[in-house]
Amino acid sequence: MRAIIPVAGHGTRLEPHTLTLQKCLLPVAGKPVLEHILDRITNAGITDVTLITGHLGEQVVEFCTSYPDANFTFVEQKERLGLGHAIYQGLDSVKDPLLIVLGDSIFELDYNRFLSCPNSTIGVAPVPDPKRFGIVELTEDRISNVWEKPDNPPSNLALIGIYYISSQLELSMGIEHLIKHDIRTKNEYQLTDAFQVMIDKGHIFNAFEIDECLDCGIPETLLSTNKTLLTRMEGNSVHDSAVITNSQIKNCTISENCLIKNSQLENVIVLRGGEVINQKIKNTIVGFDEIFNLAQTEELEL
Ligand code: UTP
Repeated sequence: MRAIIPVAGHGTRLEPHTLTLQKCLLPVAGKPVLEHILDRITNAGITDVTLITGHLGEQVVEFCTSYPDANFTFVEQKERLGLGHAIYQGLDSVKDPLLIVLGDSIFELDYNRFLSCPNSTIGVAPVPDPKRFGIVELTEDRISNVWEKPDNPPSNLALIGIYYISSQLELSMGIEHLIKHDIRTKNEYQLTDAFQVMIDKGHIFNAFEIDECLDCGIPETLLSTNKTLLTRMEGNSVHDSAVITNSQIKNCTISENCLIKNSQLENVIVLRGGEVINQKIKNTIVGFDEIFNLAQTEELEL
């Protein structure tokens, strides 16, 4: 089976860091988000991976040359017309199944069970505030509708970004329907709208509750994911070239050429070349080559 991972987006919510590094390559618990995703899907036996590239796509291609366990193809999404449009770029007109995983979340689940579902299956998780998410409506065990940010949510089960599709061809036809009739939501061709087209034509979707969704799309979630994964690894991740003197660090990702001196850091991601001197900081991202000064930045509430 093949997987498609869309990573074309600008990642505006993680600017300024994503102005120079593609969002999926930001480090969390010591390695790029994309590497965590690839580790999980290659472990489940998927080695053919198509990446939909766009913003800073050359960085993604470069990264993949050093990832040995998968065969990659890259398809450029020339215009950012939405997730449905992005996925469409990578589909083949064959009935083969497909795994789709968004490039900014790390999912913990039994992948082998997910990938052996008999029907198309959408990964879902309960959320406290369903009005802010894409939500599935279930009729018995089948998904009868998908709603984008509904005013009256029919359930609290949100689509979180992992999908098993039983036939690429049917998804392709669903997205083509959106493009042909110019059906957009928020001016974008949405994957959820394509699913609704497929449901209306009789395609069966089931829901699968994902054990854990470690989002990496905004500063707060990138940091909480860093903390969760490093707590499990019982430590910090410090690049060989980083220098740490007279400091205490806990749950930190410290990248290449960083300097940490006379400081206390807890759950901090320091990007390449960042410096922290005489500071006590928590739940913070220190930017590329940034000389961190507490006076300029506020600690985030996770
Ligand atoms: P997001 O909706 O988080 O968009 O996309 P984004 O551009 O990455 O981030 P913001 O909203 O500007 O902060 C979820 C995933 O889908 C991909 C993104 O790269 C990300 O992995 N995507 C989204 C595309 O590849 N193309 C699109 O047109 C939209």
